[in-house]
Parts: sequence; C-alpha cells; structure tokens
Amino acid sequence: MNYSHIFQLEGRVAIVTGSGRGIGKAIALGLADAGCDIVVAARTEAEIKATSSEIEGKGRRSLAIPTDVRQSEQIATLIRRTENELGKVDILVNNAGGSFAVSTLDMNEGGWDAILRENLKSVFLCCKEAGGIMKKQGCGCIINIASIAGIRSYSFNAAYGAAKAGIINFTKTLAVDLAPYHIRVNAIAPGFIETEGLSKLLEGDNEFRSSIMRRIPYGKLGRPDDIVGAVIYLSSDASEYVTGQTIVIDGGMTSI
Ligand SMILES: NC(=O)c1ccc[n+]([C@@H]2O[C@H](COP(=O)([O-])OP(=O)(O)OC[C@H]3O[C@@H](n4cnc5c(N)ncnc54)[C@H](OP(=O)(O)O)[C@@H]3O)[C@@H](O)[C@H]2O)c1
Repeated sequence: MNYSHIFQLEGRVAIVTGSGRGIGKAIALGLADAGCDIVVAARTEAEIKATSSEIEGKGRRSLAIPTDVRQSEQIATLIRRTENELGKVDILVNNAGGSFAVSTLDMNEGGWDAILRENLKSVFLCCKEAGGIMKKQGCGCIINIASIAGIRSYSFNAAYGAAKAGIINFTKTLAVDLAPYHIRVNAIAPGFIETEGLSKLLEGDNEFRSSIMRRIPYGKLGRPDDIVGAVIYLSSDASEYVTGQTIVIDGGMTSI
C-alpha cells in the first residue's frame, strides 16, 4: 500500500452550500486546493461569484449557483445543474445555516420553524437530491456542518441547538441507510469560529464574548481555516471506513 495519495481529491466535484463567505468559503477554497471542481451556492450572488472566481484562479472549474437552501426547487436546480454541467456529484458539504439569539419563551412559532427549516430541513433536502445521484454513481461523500450547540446547551439558541443536534442524529441514520451504496455521511461540529455569522451573535456583548473565551482551553476563537482539514479528510480515501461520525473542532471546549 502506498499512502501518498490518500488525501488527493483531483478530478472530484464538490458542492458547498453557504460558500459565499465564512466557513463555507474556506471549505470551498480548501477543497479546490485539494483538487476538486467546486459548485459555490448561497443567496448573495456577488459573494458566490467572488468565491467562484477565486477557485477558477486556482485552475479548477467552478459554478456559482444562486441558491436558497430553504427552497426545495432551488436545491433541485443546484444538483441538476451540477450533474449536467460538471458531470457528477462526488462531495456535498451542507454548510449553509445561521441563527439569531432569542430566549426560548420569547420565540414565536414562526421563528422556531424558520431556524429548523434553514438549518435542518435544508440538510435533508440537499442530501435527498444529491443522494439520488450518488446512489446512481455508486459512491459519494456527504459532510454536514453541525455545531457544538447540537451537543451542549447554549442559552438563547434552543431552536438552533435542536436543529444542530438533529443534524448529528440525521447523519448517523443516513450513513446507515446509504452505506450499501458506498456513500459515506459524516458531520463536523465546530466550536466558536470567527466569522460574520459569529460576530453578529457576539456584537456589543463583551460579557458573552469573555464568557466564551474563558471556556476555550486552547485560549482563542477558531478560524474558518481550522475546519478545512477535517473536510478534506472526510471527503478523501483517507476516511474510506469512516461513516456516521461527528468530528468536533472546538479548541477543547466540549472536553471540559
Ligand atoms: N461561526 C461559528 O462559530 C459556527 C460554529 C458552529 C457551527 N457553525 C455553522 O457553520 C456554518 C457556517 O457558519 P458561518 O459562521 O460561516 O456563517 P456566515 O458567516 O453567516 O456564512 C453563512 C453562509 O451561509 C449562507 N446561507 C445562509 N443562509 C442560507 C440559505 N438559506 N440558503 C443558502 N445559503 C445560505 C450565507 O450566504 P447568503 O446569506 O448569501 O445566503 C453565507 O454564505 C453554519 O451552518 C453555522 O451554523 C458556525
């Protein structure tokens, strides 16, 4: 056995949702460096086009497809265009998501539904569409971006935590269901990663920021780049026998 190519992703096609900025953008650029052609999907056209151009600058093919992952017909278009224009779907990274802080008793039913739809139902819909193509191909890798909020409790984030916990369990079930087709399904649970999404949550709340910092053994917030290595590992032959798992990347926060 020669191990020199186990992280190699040359010629594979990856879709990364929410890749206009933040963690998704770092994942898209990282997978491109590892050899993938990349489909960049999110709602803000200027941002997905910018990510896509950066990927083409690395010598890879890239499509920027405006997509709202809350809309099943837009997801169907995303997956169909990927297959038609790039020939296949090897890797799907379900990264799009977000939240707002609200106390549980103040949250209305619409807010709860909106967070579950954006963070959990969207993952089911994307997996269902891409999974059909992967089943036909007889191979594929799905990586769902969960959160440590799906493992621990985080005040003012009940719906988000429930959605991310849902992703972790959905990942296990889907991994078992799709294993006969040689499709692997895993999740990554980031801790606190410095992105615009996090800045919005921390904005103006120095007490919240310092309470987080006190709970990170590694002593600093994570960067989007910190998530990339695990995505490459889970997309590659290096993780050939790994499925149904969640890798936590949190500077030790959930180990205390
Ligand atoms: N940052 C953290 O500390 C942290 C920790 C744990 C987990 N996470 C998870 O990691 C993922 C990325 O977070 P981030 O911090 O990088 O967020 P971010 O900076 O807010 O970026 C979110 C990305 O997702 C896209 N997006 C949001 N809603 C979408 C929708 N309905 N349809 C399509 N695209 C959508 C956004 O683009 P548009 O708005 O243009 O659509 C953007 O490209 C999320 O799932 C988040 O829950 C983040």
